Amino acid sequence: MAHGVNVLVLAMVAMTRVDATGEALQMFKPPAGDRNIIDMTYDFAVNETIYWPTSEPFNLTVAFKGVMPESGVYYEANNFCAAEHGGTHIDAPAHFYRGSWVVDHIPIDGLIGDAVVVDVTAKVSGHEDYQATELDLRVWEEKHGRIPDGGILFLYTGWGRHWPNKERYLGTNTKNTSILHFPGLHSDAAKWLVENRKIKAFGIDTASLDYGQSKTFKTHTILFEKNIVGIENVANLDQLPPTGAMVIGLPMKIRGGSGAPLRIIGLLPQATRSAAIYHTATEWLILSIALFILAVIAV
Ligand SMILES: *[C@@H]1O[C@H](CO)[C@@H](O)[C@H](O)[C@H]1NC(C)=O
Ligand SMILES: *[C@@H]1O[C@H](CO)[C@@H](O)[C@H](O)[C@H]1NC(C)=O
Ligand SMILES: *[C@@H]1O[C@H](CO)[C@@H](O)[C@H](O)[C@H]1NC(C)=O
Ligand SMILES: [Zn+2]
Repeated sequence: MAHGVNVLVLAMVAMTRVDATGEALQMFKPPAGDRNIIDMTYDFAVNETIYWPTSEPFNLTVAFKGVMPESGVYYEANNFCAAEHGGTHIDAPAHFYRGSWVVDHIPIDGLIGDAVVVDVTAKVSGHEDYQATELDLRVWEEKHGRIPDGGILFLYTGWGRHWPNKERYLGTNTKNTSILHFPGLHSDAAKWLVENRKIKAFGIDTASLDYGQSKTFKTHTILFEKNIVGIENVANLDQLPPTGAMVIGLPMKIRGGSGAPLRIIGLLPQATRSAAIYHTATEWLILSIALFILAVIAV
């Protein structure tokens, strides 16, 4: 009988573990391949990835590619080089606010959180210099609920459809920054956000948090004073729901960096019914095995 009790305890421990990992699985591991994971990152590619007009673009050069003569072993390796601010990347708050976080000061979970996606594509249509307003955010909240504390807010302008056509995405192919045209977040909306909500990061599917014609980058300054991290050139925002997705973004940890290349993914909410059935089935299976073993020992 002592054995039986041990087995029961083991079974209970096993069930607790299923519970804990089940929850973790539900959060982090979508089933059936990667169809529920959205890659929100553009490739870093030579002559393609868009950088700020005055920045050094992405460069990749072959260091070695072939069979090494001494060993006969095949080997390839490259060198890469780029500005911090280009492609899918973060703006550390220090980028526009003296003394605030540089890249390696941002907490590890600074870019992990619940995603809310505010769609302003209708407003942007025909207005390439559109700046999203406080009203846009409030209208969104009326429909989808309050922007959650610790959330990561994305502004979906639809501008990603121009990527990687530099002339259409930035408004110009030249280095002349006074002719940049693309939408952004209005500084009054940024002010409302920092005063009334508690997001930890703000992302956009354009080259800058401020609109292309900005000369003062006020939206950057207002957010960065509060250490809210910026995310620019976010890919595939059209594939995220307004609420319910979780994002995980891990920037390259550049010590003292004002920004960094970022790999960011979105985990879509699951078909919770099948997950629940799976969960319950697993619990019943473990319980049955435990009872079976118990019965065998008792006999
Ligand atoms: C990039 O563009 C340069 C200049 O046009 C060209 O010489 C080079 O081959 C291109 N590299 C790639 C990888 O496309
Ligand atoms: C890329 O790097 C190589 C090797 O350093 C250099 O020769 C080349 O000019 C660079 N290209 C660009 C576009 O900066
Ligand atoms: C940049 O564009 C503006 C507006 O078209 C123009 O006035 C200015 O001369 C241009 N600057 C350069 C360096 O071409
Ligand atoms: Zn940037």
